[in-house]
Amino acid sequence: MCGIVGYIGKNNALIPVLNGLKNLEYRGYDSAGVAYTVKNNNVICVKQVGRIDALLAELGQLNNYTTNLAIGHTRWATHGSPTRLNAHPQSNNDSSIFVVHNGIIENHDAIRSMLKKDGYYFASNTDTEVIPNLIDHYYKKSQNLETAFELAIRQLEGAFAIAMISAFKPNVIYAAKLSSPLAIGISKSGNMVGSDASAMNDVAEKIVYLEDYEIATIKNSSYKIKNYKMAKNINRQPEQIELENIESSKGNFAHYMLKEINEAPKTVQSAILGRIKLETHSIKLGGLERVEEQLDNIDRILIVACGTSYYAGLVGEYLIEEIAGIPVEVQQASEYKYRSEPLSKNTALLAVSQSGETADTIAALKKVEGSGTLKLGIVNSPGSTISRITDAGVYCHAGPEISVASTKAFMAQVTVLALIALKLGEGKSSLYINLLNELPAIPQKISEVLKSADTIQEIAKKYASYKDFLYIGRGYDYPLALEGALKLKEISYIHAEGCPAGEMKHGPLAMIDELFPTFALAGGKSLSQKTFSNMQEIKARNGKIIVVTTKKSVKALKDLADDMIVIPDTNDQLMPLLEAVVVQLFAYYVALHKGLDIDKPRNLAKSVTVE
Ligand code: AGP
Repeated sequence: MCGIVGYIGKNNALIPVLNGLKNLEYRGYDSAGVAYTVKNNNVICVKQVGRIDALLAELGQLNNYTTNLAIGHTRWATHGSPTRLNAHPQSNNDSSIFVVHNGIIENHDAIRSMLKKDGYYFASNTDTEVIPNLIDHYYKKSQNLETAFELAIRQLEGAFAIAMISAFKPNVIYAAKLSSPLAIGISKSGNMVGSDASAMNDVAEKIVYLEDYEIATIKNSSYKIKNYKMAKNINRQPEQIELENIESSKGNFAHYMLKEINEAPKTVQSAILGRIKLETHSIKLGGLERVEEQLDNIDRILIVACGTSYYAGLVGEYLIEEIAGIPVEVQQASEYKYRSEPLSKNTALLAVSQSGETADTIAALKKVEGSGTLKLGIVNSPGSTISRITDAGVYCHAGPEISVASTKAFMAQVTVLALIALKLGEGKSSLYINLLNELPAIPQKISEVLKSADTIQEIAKKYASYKDFLYIGRGYDYPLALEGALKLKEISYIHAEGCPAGEMKHGPLAMIDELFPTFALAGGKSLSQKTFSNMQEIKARNGKIIVVTTKKSVKALKDLADDMIVIPDTNDQLMPLLEAVVVQLFAYYVALHKGLDIDKPRNLAKSVTVE
């Protein structure tokens, strides 16, 4: 998953392109590059390994450039390691055609061997390099760049968002989309192309989202779109760019992750704002009103998601089943597409995604397209693909999440799932009123948890040198064990495993010794006794234990736990919202102690737009 951007217009094209790349860095940051036109129609290409700052250093003062056409790319390597040679833009053999690409060309081998027979050679290990050479191949035949571009695109299999410029036509950007997100940005000074609105919102006022099998020809004051599968010109009106103001600064926080963890009280507040009607004991979810009738007939919900969103979905499973009595199944989207389970017409598919652009989750939604299944979404990013291809949904309103490790989005997702459970379970159980009154109290209780940050930091320092960690929990605490382990893995690179506390004796307990500590989530009332027995089993094997619990259990645990983090009490059903902040802070302080790049951990990216 990479980020691509392009600009053609009156202004110095490198400025909006580099700003766009900066905003797209969450999509990948192992190398970057630009290509831009100069006098006598030549195209210059500059690439660098590492962050956009490294590319900026290479380019020097942008004001010294006078180009009005440029494309750029920030990379997350799929084919070929992060080197300058494998960075994009990739070009044809005589450097007259330059391409930036996000996605995977699945038939690149076949195309490469066809072109090699035609005398082409390949300098990089990327799949992308076949594209400019294939365009060149057809250009030599047709002497028409637009035709050559379309003929080449028709050959490609897999997922792609592509932008191309060439010395042959120095006043046009050619673009194509299949699966990977791509849009055109419209502004008074010129037009842009980009992976999402954030790539263009410095300049563009309006946006036109491209759909699958579409190619576009973009000039400085016009654009045209064609669906090459249906050989049909598309007339699509631009829409207003929907982007919450990107709070680009970290404020006084050392990292976006710490800032976003500390935004948790406000995040839960925003997620419930205007949605809990205490006066009428009801829930209002505007985004679901247009499918209210179908929702009344729903007898099963299938939640699909990836990573942290999947773990939020697991909390949602417990909530919806307990509060609304509707059976729920949660599936990792990356595997769901291989399942052949018939969906009854009263099953709803609920996709959970922070970015709204995760390719696996989009593929899960596309799998049920046309089947009559109600497609719902819980999304944080307005205007994203998932918010556009679902029938209805609920926005998280958590604001942009910059740090790769998802924290506040998880808080908002769990809160929205609680609201959906209450909506579907309106008045069905005594729990309903209880939770309706308790949910608005959660932001204050989270602020209490945040006051333990120093304690959590001290504990984190103590455990930062361990190589392995087990996270355990039961019931609502179990998904938090999984989420806690993921947070530690993705930013501290320590091996961590989450497992149901009751499952430990069926295998994982074998790993436990004094070098393999355990993080026990035991905030919930109803099952904590059982989790305490599991802690006994660990203690019997000299395992070290950090436990998260509430005041009433401190006495019982003082001889069992090596370290304790005490959090306010609340309903078991809402305990995940308090425990999440603890496991997020713990992972943060371990990574901080290890001096790692917390907001941009190695090998990861914020939005995974390839399958
Ligand atoms: C979580 O911290 C990770 N960034 C990752 O697991 C993420 O949750 C996953 O890629 C899903 O992303 P989404 O919510 O944007 O779909």
